Amino acid sequence: MPVPGPGYSITVRVEAPPSASAAGDLTSAIGRVGGVITAFDVVESHADRVVVDITCNAVSENHARDITTALESLPGVHVRKISDRTFLIHLGGKIEVSAKVALKNRDDLSRAYTPGVARICQAIAENPDDARRLTIKRNTVAVVTDGSAVLGLGNLGPAAALPVMEGKAALFKKFAGVDAWPVCLDSQDTEEIIRAVELIAPVYGGINLEDIAAPRCFEIEARLRDKLDIPVFHDDQHGTAIVVVGALRNALRVVGKDIADCKIVVCGVGAAGSAIIRLLLNKGPGDILAVDVDGIVHPERGGLDPNLAWIAEHTNVERRSGSLHEALVGADVFVGVSAPNLFGADQVATMASDAVVFALANPDPEVDPLDAQKHAAVVATGRSDYPNQINNVLAFPGVFRGLLDAQARGITDAMLLAAANAIADVVDGDRLNASFIVPSVFDSAVAPAVADAVRRAAVDEA
Ligand SMILES: NC(=O)c1ccc[n+]([C@@H]2O[C@H](COP(=O)([O-])OP(=O)(O)OC[C@H]3O[C@@H](n4cnc5c(N)ncnc54)[C@H](O)[C@@H]3O)[C@@H](O)[C@H]2O)c1
Repeated sequence: MPVPGPGYSITVRVEAPPSASAAGDLTSAIGRVGGVITAFDVVESHADRVVVDITCNAVSENHARDITTALESLPGVHVRKISDRTFLIHLGGKIEVSAKVALKNRDDLSRAYTPGVARICQAIAENPDDARRLTIKRNTVAVVTDGSAVLGLGNLGPAAALPVMEGKAALFKKFAGVDAWPVCLDSQDTEEIIRAVELIAPVYGGINLEDIAAPRCFEIEARLRDKLDIPVFHDDQHGTAIVVVGALRNALRVVGKDIADCKIVVCGVGAAGSAIIRLLLNKGPGDILAVDVDGIVHPERGGLDPNLAWIAEHTNVERRSGSLHEALVGADVFVGVSAPNLFGADQVATMASDAVVFALANPDPEVDPLDAQKHAAVVATGRSDYPNQINNVLAFPGVFRGLLDAQARGITDAMLLAAANAIADVVDGDRLNASFIVPSVFDSAVAPAVADAVRRAAVDEA
């Protein structure tokens, strides 16, 4: 069940009578309709009235309206203004460019810009590799989208994708000191996207593809990796895969199972599921059953695209067919990156003992985590209001920090696995338990550990 959270946080400015019970009446009215108050500030006080700002979390926009209606219905109370705090932090965007050099006088200007800068241009023309030493390329990543798969909202287009890409850029800076910039392309044509990224690549030390729909995302990434001499990383695929593989390593430590003995069901064989399966195969699992909207993936199933055909060939040792519910029987691990509410506690009960369930569909998981907990030993979701949140923020900032520091020209599974192990290792043996298989996204040890592991893997490969 959704709970009130800061994603729907409002500040309501109300006028109320100056009675002794006014504060209690206001907070009780909000409590009765399920709002969660996080701040109560008196902004004006007069003989005949007080004006207060009440900040509270809601579940949805409709719930926020219910809260203000409940306040309005109190005798003598008047709602003056409602501010949606999420909209407020987006006013004018979330990131900016700032200069690293002082530009105080003519001397500064002559070195940072013309005429001095001309010698830097000539040096790079003579030795293009100097761009990594003498320009922003050294620390800059493009966050590229076509807006075709924005969060779980679908094809919203490039302009509507921008708030997500700005947020991503802010996270890159905050967690790893990486300068990332949104590039929202007004095209959903594979060839145009590839060409556009190729054309802008000279500026960047890496390309983070974001929210590009499957299966187009697979071809775009593969072809850009072939063409460019900088790493290309589709976060919806590999960021998820890294965190899942790291979290699964710790979950299996909790239940004392070896992955080589585990039957793993991966439900959802789109961007995230395909990358999870490909990375997991490096770990030698007992078997993987891939399941999508048409059931278990197997080679004889008709209409497989090249990605599904590859998955069919490399999973499902017994060449089984059937439904998700059939796949779950006897499975040690379920990883869901598919759709909400696909099964319940009864199906979890059919899994092997000490089952691990990662139900990651957002915002509503494949199985209610409380139902899953009735029979599974370890449960993880993509949500912040349950333990064990599988969140890509654990991976992508450190991954790019490491790649940039190594001046990597590409990215390999060895680097992704190094990142997964680094995330798992941040949770030391003393802290590891069924409710703590991944570190907090705010654990400041994570990004440096991931960066160091990726840098070392990149240097080893160079
Ligand atoms: N860290 C995280 O928590 C995290 C990371 C990535 C994706 N996700 C979530 O995973 C989901 C999938 O993301 P994606 O980018 O891979 O999407 P996608 O559209 O690329 O793939 C979706 C896949 O789910 C399958 N699917 C849809 N309905 C199904 C059903 N009823 N039964 C079985 N399979 C079904 C589709 O066939 C497809 O293979 C989303 O809800 C997304 O929010 C969570």
